[in-house]
Amino acid sequence: MTHQLRAEGITLGYDHTPIIDGLDLEVIPGAITVIVGANASGKSTLLKGLARLLKPEAGQVTLGGRNIAALSGKKVATVVGLLPQQPIAPDGITVADLVGRGRYPHQGWFRQWSSTDDEIVAAAMAATNTQQLAARRLEDLSGGQRQRVWIAMALAQDPEILLLDEPTTFLDVTHQIEVLDLLLERNRERGTTVVMVLHDLNLAARYADHLVVMRAGSIVANGAPAETLTADIVRHAFDLEAAIVPDPVCGAPMIIPIGRFHGRVSTAETPEVWQSKPVRI
Ligand SMILES: Nc1ncnc2c1ncn2[C@@H]1O[C@H](COP(=O)(O)OP(=O)(O)OP(=O)(O)O)[C@@H](O)[C@H]1O
Ligand SMILES: [Mg+2]
Repeated sequence: MTHQLRAEGITLGYDHTPIIDGLDLEVIPGAITVIVGANASGKSTLLKGLARLLKPEAGQVTLGGRNIAALSGKKVATVVGLLPQQPIAPDGITVADLVGRGRYPHQGWFRQWSSTDDEIVAAAMAATNTQQLAARRLEDLSGGQRQRVWIAMALAQDPEILLLDEPTTFLDVTHQIEVLDLLLERNRERGTTVVMVLHDLNLAARYADHLVVMRAGSIVANGAPAETLTADIVRHAFDLEAAIVPDPVCGAPMIIPIGRFHGRVSTAETPEVWQSKPVRI
């Protein structure tokens, strides 16, 4: 069964200071949604709200039409998995133990650890190339190795809806592509719904079926990458002048940064001005 995850007029914040105010978002089941936006625009806050880690002060998040706040934590964890931007692990935990914890939501009184769990954990470690790290302590790994272990844990959890906050942080370019390909494979082969935050706009455009652009706690564009990553929207969301050209590999929009937008050029003038700029560079 495919569950629909939806934010309905949610207000999220910290200490009663709203960061996101009255936001609506329908996560498309079976699609890859990528959230982009400047630092502090509220991307992580939104993911925490969708994963039930942050309670909305107004509005609700629904899963399969039911308010997520009314569902048990365990029920939510079997359907929705979140890899946070800065996950916290118990001191001294080994890689194998951590990846195994991904299976916890699937365990219970009647459902003990089984050989299937072993197989799923082994497959997740093989897919992320972390098997050789199995006996190492997480804290002794490099940033990129550690990140791959967290991704292995998220894959082992195997939720129907996988939320990932900057899963490619710390990864070299090859591992970035490998991880994104892995998530794409999960999505295309198993129908896992993926919602992830990425900072690399070109990778976002390449991997997203659906792109959500945030600015100051609001969604300013929501749709196919070709419609949402326009020069106007990039300028508005990131204060960045950019040339947009088709990615020669896949045809998605490719963003070539030009410089910070200081508000000198009116929105009506910018397309011509900035489209001609790369020729002059
Ligand atoms: N635990 C917290 N307590 C208080 N304020 C917070 C907390 N977490 C985030 N904020 C504030 O909420 C705002 C949005 O933060 P958030 O982490 O959602 O941004 P982001 O878009 O994920 O940014 P980044 O790209 O830097 O990860 C920021 O102004 C931040 O300082
Ligand atoms: Mg963040």
